[in-house]
Amino acid sequence: MPTNTPLKNDLILKALRGETTERTPVWMMRQAGRYLPEYIALRNKYSFFERCQNPELACEITLQPVDIVGVDAAILFSDILVVPQAMGQEVQLIEKIGPLLPHPIQTLEDLATIKVPDVKDTLSYVLEAIKLIKQELNGRVPLIGFAGAPWTVFCYMVQGKGSKTFDEAKSFYYKNPILAQQLLQMITDTTIAYLKEQVNSGADLVQVFDSWGGLLEPDDFLEISFKYIQQIVDAVKPLAPVIVFAKGAWFALPEMAASGASGLGIDWTIRPHIARQYAGDNITLQGNFDPAKLLAPIPEIKQSVKKMLSDFGPTRHIANLGHGILPNVPVDHARAFVDTVKEYQH
Ligand code: CP3
Repeated sequence: MPTNTPLKNDLILKALRGETTERTPVWMMRQAGRYLPEYIALRNKYSFFERCQNPELACEITLQPVDIVGVDAAILFSDILVVPQAMGQEVQLIEKIGPLLPHPIQTLEDLATIKVPDVKDTLSYVLEAIKLIKQELNGRVPLIGFAGAPWTVFCYMVQGKGSKTFDEAKSFYYKNPILAQQLLQMITDTTIAYLKEQVNSGADLVQVFDSWGGLLEPDDFLEISFKYIQQIVDAVKPLAPVIVFAKGAWFALPEMAASGASGLGIDWTIRPHIARQYAGDNITLQGNFDPAKLLAPIPEIKQSVKKMLSDFGPTRHIANLGHGILPNVPVDHARAFVDTVKEYQH
């Protein structure tokens, strides 16, 4: 059973409800990972999926940034690609290169090799990890669950590897829309069941990562990506707040703001006041510090963070990066980012 210890720090949940908080809350996308020496030490001993599948290891890695950097939320250590794995597709993580899916989905026959699984069975290790993390956190900060948006997961399932353009995934959709829609719906159904179980196991809120939504033109984004994200928001929002992060898809902020999500992640290529104009006043914005700016000298980081905080204002903002933290960021720079947010007085 999930533990129901009351949260000692619920700043992020308050911000998602639009309540006034004593300061802006902060966490960093991909905060559990490769810039932390404590993570590298575990990486040298266990393979990527061993780290994901062993609840004790996943718990330890999830807690590292809370202890070391002092963020206001933990995010489950896992990956968006455990979903295709659970659906029956082989997924490898090649060190220093990235994901490899040796049998990409390209035909009707390929589609027949995958299924919508029982997530309580195939992803039970994630649910076990969540229960353990909640216990170990003991209410210190909320736990964020997550999944990839169907379009982003589809990109990897069809392209078979990372890409700057995901041209094969796009052309698969444009050439075989019916088949592609079937696959997107299967991913959506799996993701809905998966996120609901994450919440049942103890996740306090969830984030949907659409890392490649911005590769689509605006109308296609709505049809190929957002339509499925909307189904996820509809299904999960009665259980927990949902943050949607569709990188590069600033053009769809009005539609996303009307989705029922509690928060929208934005990247660094849009000014906060424009994002606010597009999204309206009734939704929390999350972001949008350029992750590469964490490589600047600390005084410059502090100055830029203060500007970001002042631009977003005191309410309905969760400070974060505009995408995941880079592996070569020094830990004290990450800490400077977090500390500057915590010290800032609006
Ligand atoms: O945010 C966190 O700290 C929680 C853990 C987390 C990971 N992946 C762990 C991971 C989360 C939220 C993700 C999400 C994820 N995974 C996304 C969406 C967010 C984004 O950054 O766009 C995507 C597209 C993936 C797919 C993926 N997994 C890629 C492209 C890679 C290789 C490149 C990279 O970013 O590291 C992975 C591997 C991966 N997932 C690592 C980690 C810590 C690195 C593995 C290692 O070298 O130890």
